[in-house]
Amino acid sequence: MTKTINVLFLAAEADPFVKVGGLGDVAGSLPQALRALSNDEIKLDVRLVLPHHPVVKAENLRPLEVFSLPRGDSEVAVEAFETTIHGMPVYFIDGEPIRSNGSVYSLDAKLDAEKYTFFSLAAMELPNRINWQPDVVHANDWHTALSIYGNLTKRWEENARHVAGVVTLHNLPFMGPDINGLLAAYGVKLAQTDLPDWARVMPMPLGLWASDAIVAVSPGYAGEVLTEEFGCGLHDFLQLRKETLSGILNGIDTISFDPTTDTAIGVNYDSSTIEKRAINKKLLQDRLGLALDPNIPLLAIISRMDVQKGVDLAFTALKNMKRINFQAVILGTGDPKLEESARSLQEQFPDKIKAELRFDAKLARQIYAGADMILMPSRYEPCGLAQMIAMRYGCVPVVRAVGGLKDTVKQDETGFVFEKAHHMSLVSAIKTAMKTMANSEKWQLIQRNGMLKDFSWEASARAYLDLYQTLVK
Ligand code: GLC
Repeated sequence: MTKTINVLFLAAEADPFVKVGGLGDVAGSLPQALRALSNDEIKLDVRLVLPHHPVVKAENLRPLEVFSLPRGDSEVAVEAFETTIHGMPVYFIDGEPIRSNGSVYSLDAKLDAEKYTFFSLAAMELPNRINWQPDVVHANDWHTALSIYGNLTKRWEENARHVAGVVTLHNLPFMGPDINGLLAAYGVKLAQTDLPDWARVMPMPLGLWASDAIVAVSPGYAGEVLTEEFGCGLHDFLQLRKETLSGILNGIDTISFDPTTDTAIGVNYDSSTIEKRAINKKLLQDRLGLALDPNIPLLAIISRMDVQKGVDLAFTALKNMKRINFQAVILGTGDPKLEESARSLQEQFPDKIKAELRFDAKLARQIYAGADMILMPSRYEPCGLAQMIAMRYGCVPVVRAVGGLKDTVKQDETGFVFEKAHHMSLVSAIKTAMKTMANSEKWQLIQRNGMLKDFSWEASARAYLDLYQTLVK
């Protein structure tokens, strides 16, 4: 007999419908990878639910249900839509709090509080309307964590059937705004919790408190959130939940990110034809207006311009490498101050450094396929996807020993790793990498090791399946 596990997977964003960052990649891939594990013994009926942000791109949306949530003395209407992607049902929740907030993540905390509280509560009501009950509710980050809390309070109130709650932590520092007033308005009671006082009115802590399992997006990050340095004030609480906390490394889309077939790059290659990358490097130098020299190390930064990513450290490092012969390309958008620093870096070193301050997926691929190294000096990094993509393309990562970077990059084997969040530590790691690069045999070995690593989603999906199984048995 086939056993079925129904999973309602909630996220603020999921590729290809809406994508802002790494969460969108994960929520776009993991549900499908889980469904693909279905076999004669077990069927994983994973379904995705997303807010119908005004920027969502979805084809063939069918109206599914209209209902309402009580809010204060009145009600808020909920409109649910449905589509399918590769056979997976995807639900979209719409309503005034979602329509009136144009961006996926607003700078106005109040708007986001309204939107995601509404979304989380409406998404939990949806199963009752469509006659499909989840065994597991799987939330991601603060935006949807409240669904786990709503789910639990419902369990108390109505003696409802057991539904397991899982929260995946992609970025702990973002815990969401104070939603005390909103919870009262929606009639959700605040429970007695063992959370710190400041945290008991915030979506992420409430979700963590109510969850049956907490998953960090790498084993390294799972360990770090238990410490004062990375625990954001919740480390003591998380210590108490240590038994339910685990780390499961994200995967990457190895079909899309494949240097043997990628149509965005000049020349395709694999681990036995790494020397062909030289052509891609030349094309990249040409496109960027850099000297067409195969021997100058070409360094890359492909990142959100954010202090989390330590791009400021990388800029200072580059500035300090005056006497070193190198080229660098910076690709990404974000914090205006950091964008400004990137621009001024290019002005100071016009022959060496190019700042491409935009979102450009095609150029990103050309950089992965042509640059020699990618720099990731993150202050914290729950998982990090760019280092895995880079390795797949033979672009050698130089990373700080933190979170998922530490789990995925090994010194002298697949890349270069440094400890301190200081620009001089990065400079010395870059220098070591450059020295190694001068020995082309050794360098190619490092490139090949990285290219042959398996970062596909399957292993991660299996780990999630194991977890689900322990929760529903
Ligand atoms: C967040 C984290 C990043 C992680 C991504 C996907 O963006 O900062 O490290 O890779 O989520 O889990």
